Amino acid sequence: MNRFSEKTVLIVGAAQGMGRACAELFGAEGANLVLFDIEADTLKATAEQLSGKGYPVEASSGDVSRREPVHEAVVRAVDRFGHLDVLVHTAGIVELKPLLEFPEETWRRILDVNLTGVFLTTQEAGRAMAKTGGGSMVVFASTNAFYVEELNVPYSATKGGIVTFVRNAALDLARHKIRINAVDPGIIYTRLSASLIEDPVAGPDYLKRIPLGRWGSPDDIAKVVLFLASDDAGYITGEDVIVDGGVTLGVSLGIEDLKL
Ligand SMILES: NC(=O)c1ccc[n+]([C@@H]2O[C@H](COP(=O)([O-])OP(=O)(O)OC[C@H]3O[C@@H](n4cnc5c(N)ncnc54)[C@H](O)[C@@H]3O)[C@@H](O)[C@H]2O)c1
Repeated sequence: MNRFSEKTVLIVGAAQGMGRACAELFGAEGANLVLFDIEADTLKATAEQLSGKGYPVEASSGDVSRREPVHEAVVRAVDRFGHLDVLVHTAGIVELKPLLEFPEETWRRILDVNLTGVFLTTQEAGRAMAKTGGGSMVVFASTNAFYVEELNVPYSATKGGIVTFVRNAALDLARHKIRINAVDPGIIYTRLSASLIEDPVAGPDYLKRIPLGRWGSPDDIAKVVLFLASDDAGYITGEDVIVDGGVTLGVSLGIEDLKL
């Protein structure tokens, strides 16, 4: 307990899902929380629930693909708590469609949110951390960075990009004593994956491919994020950690088994 007391954690995509689970866990470990999300009402409700538990919480709503609100969230973190120590970037979006029918506008939006968002948050948070002696960052990739699924080209391309981004960013950030790592969740039960999990055919079909025999929970991921952000992971940077109940082991089964 209290592994993060006196630490300020900015969580991007904190209103629900895995971002919210991270906020709960960091709060329970004594962190000052700065929560950022595009869904202002859900963010407000989450922030109120967490402050109700006695956690110090600042909420800032905005679109992560735009610099100004991201900059504003970092400024609020530093103004209120004096420093920013940890960035957790979970915000991401997905749209499933065949490549030949994929609207360019949606392709650009997915790149903007998933990849440019990571560029902006790591840059803005990194500048603040560099001034106060360092910090750590955890960003969300996906097992889609490593294996193929139908209808998912743009999302998978951004997640592959995030893994490469993290490896390269780790070198640039090391001189500022900033570590950066990624998590690669498998299928975790949140709003984002509900349509697959709750599909009466695709859901049970996919479940058979998970060696541990269950869907992941947001908490399964939050615990790994907390470890990567903590001093316990103080010699780990530029890495990504797969948290998928063993699904990627199934890649060796062949392409037919990977179809949804
Ligand atoms: N759920 C899964 O099975 C799964 C698997 C692999 C990877 N992931 C990745 O994990 C991350 C979190 O996913 P989740 O399942 O918790 O999703 P979620 O939809 O439950 O939560 C994502 C949060 O990000 C916010 N967000 C979206 N676009 C934003 C924007 N432009 N600006 C600011 N906030 C924005 C949403 O409002 C939401 O609160 C995503 O990057 C996702 O790609 C999810």
